[in-house]
Amino acid sequence: MSDSISYDTKYLGAFVTNKDIENILPELETAHNYLTRKNGPGKDFLGWTDLPTSTGRAMLLDMVKTASRLRKKADIIIVVGIGGSYLGAKAAIEMLTPEFGEKKVFFAGFNICDEYLDGLLRMAKGKEIAVNVISKSGTTTEPAIAFRMIFDLMKKKYSRKELAGRIVCTTDNKRGALKAMADANGYKCYVIPDDVGGRFSVLSPVGLFPAAAAGIDISEMIKGAQKCRKELSSPDINKNQCYKYAAVRNILYRKGKRIEVLSNFDNKFHFVSEWWKQLFGESEGKASKGIFPASCDFSADLHSMGQFLQDGSRNIFETFLVDCEDRDMCVIPKEKSDTDELNYLAGKSLSFVNRKAYMATSEAHFEGGVPNSSIMIPAKTAFYLGQLFYFFQTAVAISGYISGVNPFDQPGVEAYKKKMFKLLGKPGA
Ligand code: PA5
Repeated sequence: MSDSISYDTKYLGAFVTNKDIENILPELETAHNYLTRKNGPGKDFLGWTDLPTSTGRAMLLDMVKTASRLRKKADIIIVVGIGGSYLGAKAAIEMLTPEFGEKKVFFAGFNICDEYLDGLLRMAKGKEIAVNVISKSGTTTEPAIAFRMIFDLMKKKYSRKELAGRIVCTTDNKRGALKAMADANGYKCYVIPDDVGGRFSVLSPVGLFPAAAAGIDISEMIKGAQKCRKELSSPDINKNQCYKYAAVRNILYRKGKRIEVLSNFDNKFHFVSEWWKQLFGESEGKASKGIFPASCDFSADLHSMGQFLQDGSRNIFETFLVDCEDRDMCVIPKEKSDTDELNYLAGKSLSFVNRKAYMATSEAHFEGGVPNSSIMIPAKTAFYLGQLFYFFQTAVAISGYISGVNPFDQPGVEAYKKKMFKLLGKPGA
């Protein structure tokens, strides 16, 4: 088994020619220089590039120790956050923990849905609770409301001293309401570095601490990210698969492919796609430009979106996330009567059938006019997820620079907030 994720471009065909690649090389070089010399747009937000090495052993151990203390103390650990302060942890936990096992970590503050929060609070009422509240600004409305309500419940159950052992804040080093609250009450605090933006924070305590709370080996995740970081240091597109992916995206965009669909054949990748959508959508969708990031979960979506992908508007390209591990945990049994006519698959594993479904889909979509490439993931482990996180973060930085935007700001997200605060009657809005 390979010890790195890899990028397969078999089904790009004539949609991306050698000449196209050659033509984009000068822009790729500029993007590489911006990133490595830290002198491009958004240069003050490149702290994520160093997280795999700056997150040292002592820091990892501290997070693991605190997480195991909370796991012992609490039946449930509620992680409160939204956007970049939610999706990375959710992606890691959904991908790396069992689907049907007893759940320890629950999320709140990522929506404004009353029934969700009410249900969570009712479930939490009779249980021992711990909380990790995550907000870089410390003022985001959704997590602030959720935390206020969870805190209200906890304060009825626990003394001030007990609360201090059950609340962990992940926030800015100096500023914000959360930092002030943590300092005033002696809550354990993890820092989101100033130069790390929300959607690039998964390899900081924002993603790592909740993952540790769910029992994931975060040092493996960091090791994976370190490996990927090393592998992506070459500016040579033939050696740097991430740069190739970034270049391919821009070439396809310039040929009218305005939508990228990140498709998987394993529902454990669902939230990796959600994380990816935020990363790419917020980083590239600005100045009236950008590839619209969408996602599909196959084979379920082959029975819905499959029609559009095969046959609809030809402004789409597709990237597959492929789990390469062969497993024999579900082997199809032989049935004497064979009324369902499945005996031709008897003795075959579900993982085998799923692989063939991927192979068939990538070929069919290519023939239908959807160029596609694949990110091959040797196995669903923390090590490879760390690689994948770092791969995509680097890819979007390079891709954004090639497309001529600042990949690290998000000026558009304020517009709805202003209107919402006015409607809510927020003082000063
Ligand atoms: O990527 C981003 O910057 C956003 O998605 C933020 O992470 C999100 O709005 C939450 O912000 P905060 O961590 O300040 O509560």
